[in-house]
Amino acid sequence: MLPKRRLARAGSPDGGAISSAPSSARFPGVAIYLAEPRMGRSRRAFLTRLGRSKGFRILDACSSEVTHVVMEHTSAEEAARWQEHSLMAAPPGCTHPALLDVSWFTESMAAGQPVPVEHRHRLKVAEPTKGPPSPAWMLPYACQRPTPVTHHNTSFSEALETLAEAAGFEGSECRLLSFCRAASVLRALPGPVTALSQLQGLPHFGEHSCRVVQELLEHGACEEVERVRCSERYQTMKLFTQIFGVGVRTADRWYQEGLRTLDDLQGQPQRLTKQQRAGLQHYRDLSTPIWLPDVEALQQVVEVAVVQALPGATITLTGSFRRGNSQGHDVDFLITHPEEGREAGLLTSVMCRLQSQGLVLYHQHQHSHCGSPAKRARHSHTMDAFERSFCIFRLPQPPETTVGDAPRPCPAWKAVRVDLVVVPISQFPFALLGWTGSKLFERELRRFSRKEKGLWLNSHGLFDPEQKVFFHVTSEEDIFKHLGLEYLPPEQRNA
Ligand code: CTP
Ligand code: MN
Ligand code: MN
Repeated sequence: MLPKRRLARAGSPDGGAISSAPSSARFPGVAIYLAEPRMGRSRRAFLTRLGRSKGFRILDACSSEVTHVVMEHTSAEEAARWQEHSLMAAPPGCTHPALLDVSWFTESMAAGQPVPVEHRHRLKVAEPTKGPPSPAWMLPYACQRPTPVTHHNTSFSEALETLAEAAGFEGSECRLLSFCRAASVLRALPGPVTALSQLQGLPHFGEHSCRVVQELLEHGACEEVERVRCSERYQTMKLFTQIFGVGVRTADRWYQEGLRTLDDLQGQPQRLTKQQRAGLQHYRDLSTPIWLPDVEALQQVVEVAVVQALPGATITLTGSFRRGNSQGHDVDFLITHPEEGREAGLLTSVMCRLQSQGLVLYHQHQHSHCGSPAKRARHSHTMDAFERSFCIFRLPQPPETTVGDAPRPCPAWKAVRVDLVVVPISQFPFALLGWTGSKLFERELRRFSRKEKGLWLNSHGLFDPEQKVFFHVTSEEDIFKHLGLEYLPPEQRNA
């Protein structure tokens, strides 16, 4: 029987304000920290309760007091990397805690006391291998690992992304996500995959994705991917969904009705929304990538309009260009002002200025529809409630480009898609994080928050549904810190 005080402690929920370091712990020389990355939140809570019920001292936070760090399914390198980035750098003169496998913990639980640390308990340094390092490096959520713009496995990732896209066209969200996640793992690998065995142990690599890579390795092409790419269904759905304002459901309806080409759509303008008509009208420009010089030119004109409309207001480039891409399908800007509330009404004034300069071919103003903070927090999916404008700008082009020696005439302007989003300064770090992308990175970040931390993240804030509080932050770094994640700069969020 445990004394009453200890029982009460053992039954208390994990984390929070409950004292985790009772002075009456049975084993004074032992302070354990259970590291979460691969253990998961609920298992960690269970092991914490178990350990405390047996009189072990288990700390909620990692500090210099910790003597034993326990991890699960983790290599020594990964543990060392985690240690480096967790807040546990020991003060000078302090020894580092032992990094141990969960087997030490379970044996100690069975013995009812800490068992001596043996070599087999210590986290193993993986054997150095040729080719890409051990998959133990590869953490399961895309927000836990850096993903640069350029990578070493383009042909594989493109094949898997084609299958993901095709699954999306059929409304199969689950398959879309599986292929996206597998492709994203390949993007994060430090070297090219040259043998199927290198996929072993990688997260999100199911049988189907492995088969695709295997075929590509063996034959240089994957039959299924080729079949999809050539199919009328895929080509038409791709064509239609590339039109500004057309989603999968609309594209599918048109397909079912027998429509196949842009001419088919032009013939039925009454079926199109205003946005879709504008999209169709500028289809050619909008389906060619935007390059950096155009982005810089745009930033300049928008910035001038913003500052003239409200001195002190700022614009920030976000989306794919903030992630370091040299091309993108649109240009995304966040607009804010350092004084909360001053941003109200700003967008209307900015759009008027841009329109009077003849720069706006189309724009759709969407007013802010922020509900109560808690209601907003529950909306964990992509759509946020900020005031915004989805625009098509008429961007003047330099008069001519030179190809070799011969000057080539160039159109005087080009239609470019621009998203302008107005954000109150208090929510700015969340909006910046949410609009920087990539889409998969955002999805994974929100899933990680919810599943591993029990917190709700979106472009408005980070909410703790148990404590019913929002976290106050001043930077993206703060948000990563609250989530216990290593900070990833935008250029490493190309998941
Ligand atoms: N986003 C969002 N709400 C929207 C639209 C987009 O939160 N209504 C987020 C998306 O999650 C994405 C980012 O804003 O991460 C940028 O979206 P988008 O411009 O569609 O994609 P990019 O990553 O910028 O890529 P692209 O070059 O294709 O524009
Ligand atoms: Mn974009
Ligand atoms: Mn956009």
